[in-house]
Amino acid sequence: MVTTFLQSEIQDPYRIYETILSNNPVYWDEENKLWAIYSYKGCKAILSNSFAHIPAVNPNNKDGLNEYALMMISQFVRLSNGIKHELARESAMLLLETANKVAINNVLENLLQNAGCKSEMDWVDSICKKLPILVVLKSFGFNDTDCDLIVSKIEQLVKIMLPHKTYEQIAAINEVSKEIYIITEKHLIATSIYKPVIKTLSEKYKLEKDKIVSLCVSNLIALSIIQGYDANRGLLSNSLLQILNHGNTVSNDCSNVTYLRKSVIETLRFDPPVHNTKRVAVNDIILDDAVIKKGETIFIVLASGNRDPKQFVNPNTFDIDRTNNNEHLTFGLGGHRCPANNFSVNFATDALIYFFTRFKIIKLLDNNIEYEPTINVRLPKSILISIL
Ligand code: HEM
Repeated sequence: MVTTFLQSEIQDPYRIYETILSNNPVYWDEENKLWAIYSYKGCKAILSNSFAHIPAVNPNNKDGLNEYALMMISQFVRLSNGIKHELARESAMLLLETANKVAINNVLENLLQNAGCKSEMDWVDSICKKLPILVVLKSFGFNDTDCDLIVSKIEQLVKIMLPHKTYEQIAAINEVSKEIYIITEKHLIATSIYKPVIKTLSEKYKLEKDKIVSLCVSNLIALSIIQGYDANRGLLSNSLLQILNHGNTVSNDCSNVTYLRKSVIETLRFDPPVHNTKRVAVNDIILDDAVIKKGETIFIVLASGNRDPKQFVNPNTFDIDRTNNNEHLTFGLGGHRCPANNFSVNFATDALIYFFTRFKIIKLLDNNIEYEPTINVRLPKSILISIL
């Protein structure tokens, strides 16, 4: 049975999840030497287990990242548990609270104009790869020049999260890390909205201002640039796909806010952008009949938990009116639950409201969707649509 695979190579991952879930929801994968968890109950148990820690991304700097890339990664909010994580998470939450809500409509309209407002477009390339990051950057007050530069370098930078990087990827990460770190640091020092965040954190944790600034720079990059990039790109892509695929069978009005919001939430369960995450056991963990030994890796298949029939009635049906869709695992759970869950649902809903109000007829031109060659996120490479 395959547990880890490139999303580009599997047309229907849910069939695989369904088979393993019904036979072996807590499965030891001998080839990859990991425990793969497929049930809703099992995923939840591991996500909330204090002995299940987030694995280090780049232990002992095995990749040879430069000082800027290292500063980002060592202060990353996805650190394992402990005081450093608490401080990083708090700084991330404070930064998110500080961000101004920018008008998504204006940013989206600009992107539509840049795409030439033709009758056909690639939704992924023209909108999904740019809108989420631009909205976050503009919420944090970055100017247009910095936004353009960061958007043009983002694909290189997000490779920082890959567990295995090629030589070329490392060289590219090192190059753009320095540039983006310096821009972000200048921005943070010059902008008054961050002053209260810096003050609150340095008083609470009794750390010097320089340390807090560097922590905030890293988190701002992690937040605004890295964390949200793939996931929100995927949410916007997959939501449109599901709405266009189910629009004829569900009684709806696509410009109806409630309908779109429910569709985004059901997409997060049914066709999530994030499919899995990892943990390492720092102590023995007992799950069902299995003993996960200290040091062993755990692969949590969130997208399988989302299709567990013990949790969701008729899980393979896209049903926006199922009462517990919001219990999906796509934002994680417990101490590492995504702090941007509400932000992301609002973002995707608002963008789709504008798009469905702006165009009256939106059609999918090609049902054959290809996916990026990634393991933990499922991202359409392109979605060709006609708009009128
Ligand atoms: C559809 C959009 C998103 C999805 C599906 C998503 C999913 C997730 C998941 C599954 C985790 C937990 C990972 C784990 O436990 O191993 C997580 C953590 C996190 N997410 Fe998101 N995310 C999304 C958008 C964003 C955005 C837009 C931001 C920032 C603006 C963000 C910031 C974070 C941060 C900082 C963490 C780490 C929390 C911690 O370790 O305490 N996410 N996200």
